[in-house]
Amino acid sequence: GAGVLALPIAGGAYLYTSTRRDTAGDVPFDNPLAVPPLDEGDLRGGARNFSLDAEAGETPIKPGKATPTWGFNGSYLGPTLRARRGDDLRFTVRNHLEETTTVHFHGAHLPADCDGGPHQAIEPGGSWEPEWTVDQPATMLWYHPHPHGNTARHVYRGLAGLILIDDDVSDGLDLPREYGVDDVPLVVQDRNFDGDNALEESETWTSTTGIIGEDVIVNGTYGPYFEATTRRLRLRILNGSNARVMNFAFDDDREFLQIGSDGGLLTEPHRTRRALLSPAERADIVVDLEPGETVVLRSLPVEDVGVGSIFKRFNGMDDRLDVLQIRAADELADSPEVPAKLAEIASLSDEPAAERSFRLAGFSTINGDSMDMNRIDFGAQVDTVEEWTVRNTDEYHHNFHVHDVQFQVASIDGEAPPPPLAGWKDTVFLEPNRDYRLRMRFDQYTDPDLPYMYHCHILFHEDFGMMGQFVVLGEGEEVGTVPDMAAHG
Ligand code: C2O
Ligand code: CU
Ligand code: CU
Repeated sequence: GAGVLALPIAGGAYLYTSTRRDTAGDVPFDNPLAVPPLDEGDLRGGARNFSLDAEAGETPIKPGKATPTWGFNGSYLGPTLRARRGDDLRFTVRNHLEETTTVHFHGAHLPADCDGGPHQAIEPGGSWEPEWTVDQPATMLWYHPHPHGNTARHVYRGLAGLILIDDDVSDGLDLPREYGVDDVPLVVQDRNFDGDNALEESETWTSTTGIIGEDVIVNGTYGPYFEATTRRLRLRILNGSNARVMNFAFDDDREFLQIGSDGGLLTEPHRTRRALLSPAERADIVVDLEPGETVVLRSLPVEDVGVGSIFKRFNGMDDRLDVLQIRAADELADSPEVPAKLAEIASLSDEPAAERSFRLAGFSTINGDSMDMNRIDFGAQVDTVEEWTVRNTDEYHHNFHVHDVQFQVASIDGEAPPPPLAGWKDTVFLEPNRDYRLRMRFDQYTDPDLPYMYHCHILFHEDFGMMGQFVVLGEGEEVGTVPDMAAHG
């Protein structure tokens, strides 16, 4: 069970934090897993047209009263958008909320004015119409608000959704692909509910990371079960939590195959018993099932990653949480073997045109600076590869996310990355005091005045300023000046 622990900190203040939480075996699993509706867009004018409406509503989650929540085209989360590499996408995003928001396409390679970061604010009652051509490998991306200083609250209330991208490579592989049947997305989120089932938004007892939720919901379902009908089940997992790191495993410790990461399929399946995901990271996994069996997906305590034991405790990294029960039918349809070779990944081995270093410290700075909407930190040259060395200088956890690109982890403290980090990534967990060398190619020219973001995806840190801005410059260009932000409200 959980209790509250008060830790004395400097100045006679106290941090209030929960002790280790263990829900293994306690979650009733009496609600069928909700699967977000699939939306392949409206084919018009040679493009795939999508509409997203951010709105407030009420969602039955825990037994008893419904929970006031926000969602896209509904009361919680949003539709799963599906498109192919090469498609032209057109969006109409409307804001029916009473405050300014944005919709960011996390992991997407797109022009800066379509990114949906803090510079693409949508006023209450307003709308926004980004469009771009999909130019990246098959994978699962996601979308979520990114209004500066308010991202954590907007995501916590339920604004998030998935994007599935297919391409010729994924079409040519015999992988489970029937949405909601043998290819099931899991948006895993931790939440706290008060006595009336309203979302508890106070951060008073978590201090350095923002909200760590005591309950886990999957696609908005509390205590979910899924009825599997096939021998192999593909789960596309997003850690959609604001701050909690999750260490996915099955209750019988069975092996499974990880076949993809944030930005695409791996080169070959990775046989494992664990998938460690920090907030915003994704894992594409395939698990084998026996007829009639029941197996539970859990988040286990995070093994030794160098996070101090006190921080591990109050950031929930010692917790053991039930996530999803899988009930296999008595007769299971056959599924093909997972292919031994998946995608080709050309390594970004070009001589880097620039090397940069990023030090994350406290909960609000990178290289000593906090986010300033009017400061562009640097410009990368279009059509070059850069190498960024990123370091978490704290004893607690951070991660690192870069907009517009998928990067490669070239090394961690000089060593080759483990298989789950050897494919395309847009977010990487930073174990304390290690050097993560990331390589990325910038091939999308932007306006020198219009930046992309890089930041910690612990949303409380991001909101407090652990974020910076960069542009992608053409030949001979210099970093511009962000137009007066007052104009954006
Ligand atoms: Cu998922 Cu800058 O965000
Ligand atoms: Cu992003
Ligand atoms: Cu952080």
